Amino acid sequence: MGRLLMSGTVDAECLMVDFAGLRLRNPVLAASGTFGYGLEMQSYVDLEKIGGFVAKSLTLEPRYGNSPPRIAEVSSGMLNSISLENVGVEAFIRQKLPEVPQEALVIASVFGTEIAHYVEACERLSSEDRVAAIEINASCPHVKSGGIEFGQNAQILGKLVGQVRSSTVGTLLVKLSPNVTDIAEMARVCEAEGADGISVINALQALDVDLKERRSVLWNGLGGLSGPAILPVALRMVWQCFQAVSIPICGIGGISSAEDALKFILCGAQAIQVGTANYLNPCSTEAIVGGLLDYCQENRVGSIQDLVGCLQPPRWKVS
Ligand SMILES: Cc1cc2nc3c(=O)[nH]c(=O)nc-3n(C[C@H](O)[C@H](O)[C@H](O)COP(=O)(O)O)c2cc1C
Repeated sequence: MGRLLMSGTVDAECLMVDFAGLRLRNPVLAASGTFGYGLEMQSYVDLEKIGGFVAKSLTLEPRYGNSPPRIAEVSSGMLNSISLENVGVEAFIRQKLPEVPQEALVIASVFGTEIAHYVEACERLSSEDRVAAIEINASCPHVKSGGIEFGQNAQILGKLVGQVRSSTVGTLLVKLSPNVTDIAEMARVCEAEGADGISVINALQALDVDLKERRSVLWNGLGGLSGPAILPVALRMVWQCFQAVSIPICGIGGISSAEDALKFILCGAQAIQVGTANYLNPCSTEAIVGGLLDYCQENRVGSIQDLVGCLQPPRWKVS
């Protein structure tokens, strides 16, 4: 808990948060897929100063991504269809993890095309001391259901979370897909099946067109929209999840400043993740930590946790 000092200011402890069984030095994490395996970002960010990072999503076996173009800039954001290229679970454990500074908090991210793949990858990763938590990425096509995302069907999502939960020791987070009608229903399923927390949201399915070629700008056709364009959608979803469940929420979507992060916290996020902003400014996460500390000091907020879910009712309710 941050202390209100004699001088009337608060110290850096005001940013400490308890999140899903983890003690974070601050609520600012880097989002999966935008921070590599942490090592790539060390020359820009002091990994011991941010709350932690979620590593690139891992599969059991190494995987190549889509062909280029697989990233495109759009108004207020970017489209990507990297298709979850990664080194695989074993290479992550043997080659990447040992190189990460001891004080950095590492969250591993896992995905698969079948539930059994998630289960095996999570089992393997949860036995590693350096892995503080596992985030399962539910925005992947479930092959047995014809390619619908795990996170788009409450029954499939429930089965996935339940089976991973029963074979995973330690903190389990579920990253929800925003490509659904009722995000609160998905949050409830995760809570019922034993998730310790949810991460809200992944990129939104989207398309942009190259007029000269009259085809999608991306090789793959559709891509995931991220960046400032999705911030209001993400805030809405975090707020709806906050109304629906008691497990903690990590807010994600278009965050590039401390002000953005504070909006998520007011809407119910106990921690936040920074994604696309890392491409514009690789030091974003550390800068946001600094901005949050300034805010707490200027507003004499003893603990940032006191702000979680403090969004005031809309004007029509009070007038
Ligand atoms: C290039 C790129 C790669 C991504 N790869 C992953 C990934 O491997 N796993 C995952 O769960 N999310 C992945 N994401 C989604 C982000 O973690 C994040 O949820 C999303 O981009 C929204 O946050 P933002 O607007 O701050 O970027 C990726 C996003 C981008 C832009």
